[in-house]
Amino acid sequence: MILNTELEYKGNLFPSKIIAYKKNLNVLSFTTENGVVLEVTVRRDSVLRFRYTTTGIFENDFSYAITKYASRGYNHLEVTEDENNYIITTAKLICHISKLDLRSSIYDAKDKSLICEDELGFHWEESYEFGGDVVKMSKTSHAGESYYGLGDKPVDNNLKGKRFENWVTDSYAYGRETDPIYKAIPFYTALHNKKSYGIFFDNTFRSFFDFCSERRNITSFWAHGGEMNYYFIYGPEMSDVVANYTDLTGKPHEMPALWTLGYHQCKWSYYPESNVKEITAKFRELEIPCDAIYLDIDYMEGFRCFTWSKEYFPDPKRMVKELADDGFKTIVIIDPGIKIDMDYSVFREGLEKDYFCKRADGPYMKGKVWPGECYFPDYTNPEVREWWSNLFQELVEDIGVKGVWNDMNEPAVMDVPGKTFPNDVRHDYDGNPCSHRKAHNVYGMQMARATYQGLKKFSYPKRPFVITRAAYSGTQRYTSSWTGDNVATWDHLTIANLQAQRMCMSGFSFIGSDIGGFAEQPNGELYARWIQLGVFHPFCRTHSSGDHGDQEPWAFGTTITDVVRKFIEIRYQLLPYLYTAFWRYAEEGIPILKSLVLYDQHDPQTHYRNDEFIFGEKILACPITAPNQKGRRMYFPLGKWYNFWNDELVKGGSEQWVDADLDSMPIFVKEGAIIPKYPIQQYVGEKTIDELILDVYYKEGKESSQVYEDATDGYDYIKGRYSLRDFKLSGKKNELIIQQHKSGKFVTTYKTFKLKLHGLPFKISKIEIDNVIIPLEKLKLNGNNTLTITKEFSELHIMA
Ligand code: GLC
Repeated sequence: MILNTELEYKGNLFPSKIIAYKKNLNVLSFTTENGVVLEVTVRRDSVLRFRYTTTGIFENDFSYAITKYASRGYNHLEVTEDENNYIITTAKLICHISKLDLRSSIYDAKDKSLICEDELGFHWEESYEFGGDVVKMSKTSHAGESYYGLGDKPVDNNLKGKRFENWVTDSYAYGRETDPIYKAIPFYTALHNKKSYGIFFDNTFRSFFDFCSERRNITSFWAHGGEMNYYFIYGPEMSDVVANYTDLTGKPHEMPALWTLGYHQCKWSYYPESNVKEITAKFRELEIPCDAIYLDIDYMEGFRCFTWSKEYFPDPKRMVKELADDGFKTIVIIDPGIKIDMDYSVFREGLEKDYFCKRADGPYMKGKVWPGECYFPDYTNPEVREWWSNLFQELVEDIGVKGVWNDMNEPAVMDVPGKTFPNDVRHDYDGNPCSHRKAHNVYGMQMARATYQGLKKFSYPKRPFVITRAAYSGTQRYTSSWTGDNVATWDHLTIANLQAQRMCMSGFSFIGSDIGGFAEQPNGELYARWIQLGVFHPFCRTHSSGDHGDQEPWAFGTTITDVVRKFIEIRYQLLPYLYTAFWRYAEEGIPILKSLVLYDQHDPQTHYRNDEFIFGEKILACPITAPNQKGRRMYFPLGKWYNFWNDELVKGGSEQWVDADLDSMPIFVKEGAIIPKYPIQQYVGEKTIDELILDVYYKEGKESSQVYEDATDGYDYIKGRYSLRDFKLSGKKNELIIQQHKSGKFVTTYKTFKLKLHGLPFKISKIEIDNVIIPLEKLKLNGNNTLTITKEFSELHIMA
């Protein structure tokens, strides 16, 4: 029996003393007397990979998580030894490997402080039942050390004191602390002494993390097979740890089309066509912006993927076109289960080509999902992925579908123990044949990848859009995601907030929840509060199971409709701001949402905060998470923050009360920020942007902001056709200076900026643009607050 514990089992085995050491460029290997080999690879000055084998022979080095685009290279590498240790020194780290037992201790190269050290270090249990080992690692936890990350765990931000399992699981109506759920992202970030490091345990077997739960001062992780194979990533800034992890496991392969950042409406299910049209027409009638409408499983013929119900959707191509003419992109669901039916071409083809998963002794993996008994493609086979990708040709190229939503890809199987494939199912694993024990956690990821390949091929020259429910580390390269089947309760609103922050901290920023809750029905107040949070999530979609009543913005009466419209409008105005944040994420791996600890790890007050977060770089938001509230207390990070609604300036560093009636929510803007805004549009591209609004928040001191734009879709931006504006604001008592540096070859449609000045402490009497004094009447100066200037300026002086 394999115990779900790191230590209790007495059969633990340990490495003995080192008898051989070899260095091959950046790969250092240490062999022990009892045949264990530790290979330390120096990938970067701040990134070390630790890999252990107990047999002396390593497995084929293959990972679905690590991207070939990951940065490599270091400035310094030196290995020395003293009596007790081998000592690896890079520009950022010093790592001791104990000659006695392979235990490692890692220090900051600059100040020599201890960052992370093994307790027992690597140990293992042999598994007679499955072969191979249960591989384990334990590390000392320091006083005051905190832990974050791990994907979609529905718990408070700080993971200390808890144990988790990584095994991708269909979790209808999960709740707080339910574990595991849909995603397996075995990456955490730790923080102590104001320094942060991360551990990515790249092992796809069922794995566990224990943060001082089993033993008070010990953090451990282990997996039911595979290798002890982990990456140590040093900051010391937490944002660098997350950026480096994202670099390792991949940033999104392309920017999302701008419309994908608009509002999406979904339900299980909108059908027939007339119902879909009613919904979309209502959005336009009520002037609630919306870019995407979803078709859930009922659009298909008997839940057969890649088919359309003739009864409900007799002419999908026409419908999709009509929706597109009205600004709606049609997104359809595609599940992995392929109905067993010899009259169904996808099934026949999969069978003929031998693309379905099989049990160990040969029979097909048969399981029940929506269509009844199904077989399941083995997406871990590259040939199967290629085949699958080609199935999207008709949907995308011919019918005009703009996005695909992959669901049930844990894989979920109904009415069976474990709700998934049994362990013996065989997978190709890209030429490394294995059982489901190893492939389970990546099955959904590989399905989303194959779907992405198809969407990319057939959407070209437009950008692909995919959504997935299941994910393993690295899935963010291909797709967006949502948090699965949540429930319409206040606690789930809080959970959605935590999960979105946590996913962003785990390298996966394109994330959102089913707004309003999937199961059960919210009342109007809960729905409105959830929309308020949802417009600050990178993926913004209302979805519900539909059997509990309607969940459209107008389903709860006009007061709620007005609140919902108001917040969706804010999202549309902020699109250039969100797009810029996305660009920072896609370019540098900077999370779009930042938990306060990620934003300012040096302020210990942030280490246990949950509700407040930074949206992009400059906006602080905090949802109202309980009924009947007229406001709430929240923590303000250090610095000064303008109230978004009334420009009142708040000094950070403490908890304070903020008013927020139902039509409001605590939103603050960092002093010195320049926030770009578009006019309200009913969908992206409805209007030509003929003026960019810049909300300028005065600060006495300096602050920089960026605005990234491109054609909003397509690939020209990769060839340099983007527009990046770097703004430097510098405020003095009687002068505000804004410098602009522009790069990229994209020419925006607008010619002017409308500056809205917030908190300016003086009355404007003189304005100079690039050293020329401009008569104030030429700038459409309105009161002391707004002025219109050419977008081409380099330096603007606003003077008293
Ligand atoms: C699953 C999905 C949900 C979807 C339903 C029907 O429960 O998580 O979003 O609506 O299946 O396809």
